[in-house]
Amino acid sequence: NWSMDDFIDLQIQHIRETVGDRKVLLGLSGGVDSSVVGVLLHKAIGDQLTSIFVDHGLLRKGEAEQVMASLEGKFGLNIIQVNAQKRFLDKLAGVSDPEKKRKIIGNEFIQVFNDEAQKLDGIDFLAQGTLYTDVIESGTDTAQTIKSHHNVGGLPEDMHFELIEPLRSLFKDEARELGEKLGMPSDLVWRQPFPGPGLGIRVIGEITEEKLEIVRDSDFILRDEIKKAGLDRDIWQYFTVLPGIRSVGVMGDGRTYDYTVGIRAVTSIDGMTADFAHIPYEVLAQISTRIVNEVKHVNRIVYDVTSKPPSTIEWE
Ligand code: XMP
Repeated sequence: NWSMDDFIDLQIQHIRETVGDRKVLLGLSGGVDSSVVGVLLHKAIGDQLTSIFVDHGLLRKGEAEQVMASLEGKFGLNIIQVNAQKRFLDKLAGVSDPEKKRKIIGNEFIQVFNDEAQKLDGIDFLAQGTLYTDVIESGTDTAQTIKSHHNVGGLPEDMHFELIEPLRSLFKDEARELGEKLGMPSDLVWRQPFPGPGLGIRVIGEITEEKLEIVRDSDFILRDEIKKAGLDRDIWQYFTVLPGIRSVGVMGDGRTYDYTVGIRAVTSIDGMTADFAHIPYEVLAQISTRIVNEVKHVNRIVYDVTSKPPSTIEWE
């Protein structure tokens, strides 16, 4: 009978035997999978693990701080935080096509990771948060293929690491259970899925610092209210998007011409299909009032009531 405690013991033993006194590199994304791998590896081999956390400036509000406070502060991981916000924004300037944005972000991610990895000496292994579902999706003979930015980033092509993928036999809910067993905070373990390109695909069209800030601040309010309403575990993903259109409104005695923010919230089993979440009107009203009051340059909120298909979860 399979238990998570046995799994942890076995994995730790296996990791120690594989790694010996050599060194492991891990790309942390702030997501569940890489974080769990980080904590597990640190438990097994301590400071023989070095992690790189690339902040591309497209993370949610407070996310980088939360990851650092928890994984470095509480669990003691040795993390190199790379503040690459400017690099990404510069590369993205003037680009509005979603797939181009994805490519730029993915490529830049690999390069930043690469640049940092080059500075480190004597790394033999690269750890990844690959799950069983990723293994199946990649197909048997390409199972070793590194997913581009789906998890964390690509692998520097001219570097030859052996892969360590301790979650390869686990489903997502088992990875979460493992995280809980390892004492990780539920905020981290129960994190909703977040795309690699981050807020970069939630600012529709061209990305600017101002638009990013609107998405970041409105998203923060949405998350806060969803959590307060006790809905955070029932909804698969919930976030705001900035379509970039402006419309007329009225505030005090004056006419405004400001941005519309879209709310997207879906229920889903696996992200392949999804239904728009039936959030109670009172909760939506509270979210709407707060965003308009607290986030500058927003005067209208709309709720996305389409399912997947025909829509996708993200707007880009
Ligand atoms: P869509 O929008 O296609 O999204 O219904 C399905 C799931 O995938 C996530 N998503 C991404 N994840 N890189 C990622 O790592 C991406 O480029 C990307 N695009 C979408 C999305 O958040 C949802 O969970």
